[in-house]
Amino acid sequence: MADKIYYPNSELAKNAHCKSLEQYRKMHDRSVNNPVAFWSEIAKEFYWETPAAEDKFFSYNFDLTKGDIFIKWLEGASTNISFNLLDKNVKSGNGDKIAFYWEGNDPDDYSRLTYRKLLEEVCRFANVLKSKGVTKGDRVAIYMPMILELPIVMLACTRIGAVHSVVFGGYSSDSLAERILDSKAKILVTSDGVWRGEKLLILKNICDDALNKVKKNGHVVECCVVVAHLRRLNNPQGTKPDTTGKTNGVNGTSNGNAPELPEIKWDDDRDVWWHDEMEEAEDKCYPVWMNAEDPLFILYTSGSTGKPKGVLHTTGGYLIYAATTFKYVFDYHPGDVYWCTADIGWITGHTYVVYGPLANGATSIIFEGTPFYPGNDRYWAVIDKYKVTQFYTAPTAIRSLMKFGDDLVKKHNLSTLKVLGSVGEPINPEAWLWFYNLVGHGKCSIADTFWQTETGGHVITPIPGATPMKPGSATFPFFGVLPEILDEDGHLVEGEGEGYLVFRQPWPGMMRSLYGNHQRFQSTYFDKFHGYYCTGDGARRDADGYFWITGRVDDMLNVSGHLMSTAEVESVLTEHTSVAEAAVVSKPHPIKGQCLYCFVTPNEGAEFDKKLQSELKTRVREKIGPFAQPDVIQHAPGLPKTRSGKIMRRVLRKIAAGDRNVGDVSTLADETIVDLLFQLRPQV
Ligand code: PRX
Repeated sequence: MADKIYYPNSELAKNAHCKSLEQYRKMHDRSVNNPVAFWSEIAKEFYWETPAAEDKFFSYNFDLTKGDIFIKWLEGASTNISFNLLDKNVKSGNGDKIAFYWEGNDPDDYSRLTYRKLLEEVCRFANVLKSKGVTKGDRVAIYMPMILELPIVMLACTRIGAVHSVVFGGYSSDSLAERILDSKAKILVTSDGVWRGEKLLILKNICDDALNKVKKNGHVVECCVVVAHLRRLNNPQGTKPDTTGKTNGVNGTSNGNAPELPEIKWDDDRDVWWHDEMEEAEDKCYPVWMNAEDPLFILYTSGSTGKPKGVLHTTGGYLIYAATTFKYVFDYHPGDVYWCTADIGWITGHTYVVYGPLANGATSIIFEGTPFYPGNDRYWAVIDKYKVTQFYTAPTAIRSLMKFGDDLVKKHNLSTLKVLGSVGEPINPEAWLWFYNLVGHGKCSIADTFWQTETGGHVITPIPGATPMKPGSATFPFFGVLPEILDEDGHLVEGEGEGYLVFRQPWPGMMRSLYGNHQRFQSTYFDKFHGYYCTGDGARRDADGYFWITGRVDDMLNVSGHLMSTAEVESVLTEHTSVAEAAVVSKPHPIKGQCLYCFVTPNEGAEFDKKLQSELKTRVREKIGPFAQPDVIQHAPGLPKTRSGKIMRRVLRKIAAGDRNVGDVSTLADETIVDLLFQLRPQV
């Protein structure tokens, strides 16, 4: 069934930006054979204060043997992203168009922002940043929930050339501190807290802990701006939040049953309320013209050594790539209402909640809540409420919603949908078919978009009006992208076959470096196979040329679409005084895709009991974030190691999966350990 081909709906294809496979192929050929012509035509749709020099439009080196790696697009050009996303839309008559609908955690809590209002708010916050001494090139850390102030802060940074570094609001204070320290952020923007489902998160207190840790490590964040998101509910008139009292509403309503809000910590020398600062700020701010290769943002992603990598994206190339992928992959047309459920704290939220949609003058939804609150049909209710035309979500969400049965979906009118998107991990054919048949009524194209924080935008993906789909395959490369499959020795796998997924040449939106560590950038992505960008993923090409992503080939895990390294979890586990050694592997999980399975060797004399297991789980939650909590902590009196001391993770993965077929273990220093670990395996 998975090999059956699903053709784009002919109605959709008729009006699509790319209408056929033939047109896709022509455009793709041109984009890779003549990238300058292809992308300079697209660049003309945007405003450049100084246009790019034709002869310097594109240059790069992907081969470490020939010197340092570099990637440059639109050299010499200058522009401002917020100008292209906002002023340009307002000037072209779209000022009153809705840029964002905001749907709160509580269905009764919602609002909206037009392009004109968004521009004013962005300018006002840009002026606030300036008043705090933030200038071009300074880093601004952001730790916020899914509220409208979040894109406002990001775009305000771009207005004045500051570099934003958004840290996902589910990260712990340690993770936040580590990221603030690495980027040496001057200022932090957060909110007092947020409701997610029935859970209240006091973000400001997490920030306080993080800022104390940062200070102890020798860096001082001069100012922390706090949005009174929970406290705004205290003022029924909606003018100014009462920041003295406690909130009187749960989840955005004043139902009177709210638990009291815990106090938030406050440092008078450092902390200011957003509304106090915004009140006085002017709503006009002249944009700072940025060079195309000036940094736009840093976004941290897990690295296999455990230390997060500050992926650096720049201005010009990212703008045109985010805009173009959004336009074609979601086949966006004026009048559509697009919804991406990803948190802005991840790359999907950067490119496909903020930059891509606004660059196309689109109307989209920012959703604060969860798929399960107040009921398990929240996603379908939101699609129905806003008449969503493009819906972009993650396989883990689809799988978790499938289990509630079809009636919850059928209850809502989803007939406006045209394109469905999937991102973050491979989508299993069963979930694909459920999404296609039930949610999409068999008439929507599914864009299974393969990409990474590093790639900036989609790199392998179907195009809705053009690409015949195979459930579970990300299909073909986007414009400008040239994927290859290599074997272990770096030889090209031609035609059908499997191996390492690499890219031969850069597209405009790819990362330029790792912040403050170009060496690590080169060794992580360009040293394994000279001349190629190495994704760290495996892929298979089938007889029809379709790409199927087979998963990570390094020590990374993908839990519910969140990438993390085994090393970072292991280092948290071994910090515990009772733990001598730990090894973490992934285990297939029906909803999360993968979950964490940890083998723990206790210290001499330390007891491996329920208490230790729960302490270790809590510790990982606290040190990394709730999404990283291990599912299983197994007692391992020893670990399967080679004679040279290397842990054989493939054996541990088999034990975690309960698969006795462990393969060749003759290189192990002690083969008996395998049987022992099987015996100690908990019944899960
Ligand atoms: O392993 C691939 C998986 O997610 C990784 C990138 O994670 P991150 O940088 O956090 O970005 C996630 C959102 C773009 C990839 O290396 N991945 C992402 N999308 C897919 C996928 N695996 C299979 N199919 C996909 N569509």
